[in-house]
Amino acid sequence: MAVDVLLGLQWGDEGKGKIVDYLAHKYQLVCRFQGGPNAGHTLWINGKKTVLHTIPSGIFHEHLVNVIGNGVVIDPTTLMKEIEALETGGANVRGRLRIAKKAHLILPTHKLLDMASEASKGEAKIGSTLRGIGPCYMDKTGRNGLRIGDIMDAGFDKKYQALKEKHLHLLKLYPETTFDLQPEEEKWFTSIEQIRTLQLIDAEYYINDRLAAGDNILAEGAQGMMLDIDFGTYPYVTSSNTISSGVCSGLGVPPSSVREVIGVTKAYCTRVGSGPFPSELTGEDGERIRIAGHEFGSTTGRPRRCGWLDVPQLKYAAMITGCTQLAITKLDVLNAFESIEVAEKYKIGNTETDRLPFDIIEDITGVVHTQHKGWLQDIASDTYDGLPVEVRNYLSYLEQQIALPVVFVSTGPGREELIVR
Ligand code: GDP
Ligand code: IMO
Ligand code: MG
Repeated sequence: MAVDVLLGLQWGDEGKGKIVDYLAHKYQLVCRFQGGPNAGHTLWINGKKTVLHTIPSGIFHEHLVNVIGNGVVIDPTTLMKEIEALETGGANVRGRLRIAKKAHLILPTHKLLDMASEASKGEAKIGSTLRGIGPCYMDKTGRNGLRIGDIMDAGFDKKYQALKEKHLHLLKLYPETTFDLQPEEEKWFTSIEQIRTLQLIDAEYYINDRLAAGDNILAEGAQGMMLDIDFGTYPYVTSSNTISSGVCSGLGVPPSSVREVIGVTKAYCTRVGSGPFPSELTGEDGERIRIAGHEFGSTTGRPRRCGWLDVPQLKYAAMITGCTQLAITKLDVLNAFESIEVAEKYKIGNTETDRLPFDIIEDITGVVHTQHKGWLQDIASDTYDGLPVEVRNYLSYLEQQIALPVVFVSTGPGREELIVR
């Protein structure tokens, strides 16, 4: 009947996976629409941790179908590793998973190109996850890519060799690096063989047929709004549209099918990789948040940069995504803070603004903070009204600033540690 979208409003890792896992029971389909194994979505179910990279976060629900949409880029080796791990844990992945034939394939040489490109940038590197995302999307828009549907084609190996040769030529443009491609290629082809046995579908027809039949769909965003290729902190972004419009191009559904857009934000801010971060805390407070929030990347293990919540950034994200509801995660991480700050305005020269300038690094000369009283206690609660008054004040302030209702409040990593209003 309709598509609800769940996406990150910051620089990724907002806790999207957890909320999708919680919400999934209300839907018949959960679909990933962009990104690839650069994503790491963590679920804690019955004390067991799972990190999903390509598979949608509805996979633990028996009754529903999970679709990897055409907008996603797939690394066969990572995907098969993920499927095998989930199946070993008892999940019926093959029965619940569908893969769009139009989704693009990440080749082993895409990863080499990612590494070579990053190495050549030196200090100016993006801080990519090195999963081959950028080079794969470049081949997609350059009209050279290989897609899931191609693996059923008799001429697939030839197409692969031609694209690989092209990549090897391109690699010569970069400073020389040593790599052993053969073992990676062997794993890749073994995985391709296994993917041939999965349910590969014309996803645009499948999804639209299900909508026409009255089903509800949850579209699961990866990364975050500020990593969007068009509206993020370019060039320090990923290579796909992480905003709501990505759902239409990444699944083949019309804009009129989209209903709610749930924007997920932490109660503070993090970023992994390079690029502007106006409210970043480089000192002791940043370290305190990192430790309390276990802020280390789910995909690469890198320490995440931490800072206070950034109101102009969130307003911008809400505007671009057309967000209708807020989900605030990781409030418990601030339990021990006597005082919590929020970046409410940016200083640009002698003026103050709540708008993001074109050149965030050069133009923003400072940040205007507001102070909020901390709650200094544990906040496990089943109800919103059961939360300490300081928490409710903090949330009311955010609702008023961003002009959106807080509908979900997450107070811990577990599936049950979520208040729904
Ligand atoms: P995603 O990429 O947006 O799905 O987020 P990640 O899984 O990369 O990062 C979020 C991290 O925070 C994971 O380790 C989650 O288990 C954890 N998490 C999610 N919600 C909460 C919360 O409310 N409190 C705490 N303490 N941890 C949370
Ligand atoms: P989830 O879905 C946080 C960041 C990388 C780098 C930039 C480009 O778990 O929120 P890429 O590999 O896409 O070329 O890297 O984007 N990045 C993420 N940061 N969470 C993610 O995904 C990310 N996916 C990419 O760190 O700065
Ligand atoms: Mg993540």
